[in-house]
Amino acid sequence: MLSFAVQTARDAGRVLVDRLGRALQISNKGDIDLVTEADLAAEKLIIERIRSHYPRHAILAEESGLSDGITVVPGKSEWKWIVDPLDGTTNYAHGYPCFCVSIALERAGRIEIGVIYDPLRDEMFAAERGRGATLNERGISVSSVADLNSAMVCTGFPYDVRERPNFARHFATFTMEAQAVRRDGSAALDLASVACGRFDGFWEDGLNPWDIAAGVLLIEEAGGRVTDFAGGTLNIYTAKVLVSNGKIHQAMMRVLRS
Ligand code: IPD
Ligand code: CA
Ligand code: CA
Repeated sequence: MLSFAVQTARDAGRVLVDRLGRALQISNKGDIDLVTEADLAAEKLIIERIRSHYPRHAILAEESGLSDGITVVPGKSEWKWIVDPLDGTTNYAHGYPCFCVSIALERAGRIEIGVIYDPLRDEMFAAERGRGATLNERGISVSSVADLNSAMVCTGFPYDVRERPNFARHFATFTMEAQAVRRDGSAALDLASVACGRFDGFWEDGLNPWDIAAGVLLIEEAGGRVTDFAGGTLNIYTAKVLVSNGKIHQAMMRVLRS
């Protein structure tokens, strides 16, 4: 099933890249339609593949073309695919090269497989529970940075950031306490970057399961730590996500408590 997820993410990534140039040529409201079209085309490919290979499995996917923004295909088994066909939509719309496909497979509430594919860098992040995490088939692990002062951390601004007053305070504190703070605009890629040690930590309040399902498994399998803001067990269906290399976790929790 891991190789199925890898191949499906790769093919969906190609769909996004094929449509990227076209989206870039149009600078009016038309790009929104093109982005939606790319998003939908990638999602369609993924859902059709899953349905033909695993017809009994459930699917939870983000579909920006629908008013409720969610596709749910009920299943007849305990397996559920959790899919974001395009994570980093705003980047994609602006031609900023930071977006990806994220596919996870959950079994009875536990993520078993996670794949994140960056089609522009041709970077395939993959993890299977208990078997480690890889980037283009080579093992990866989280960084060894031990203090916030030396850490590069990342965050994301949820679409409703204006309704989350704590965000600006946390952002300001991390800016003062960490070596660097980044905001790349693709939560799934941010998590993959923690898994392979490029970022030392990441936090965001306002994420959905399809943004994080694959990434949290990658981080766990790469030796990192995944919790809610208070250090409790992360439920991917709730919004507050804190991940790190483990070593700077307490320091990040302290900031998020403030
Ligand atoms: C968004 C991105 C972004 C994060 C938002 C997400 P989308 O997903 O991951 O980085 O800050 O909270 O909704 O809309 O590009 O799939
Ligand atoms: Ca997303
Ligand atoms: Ca999306």
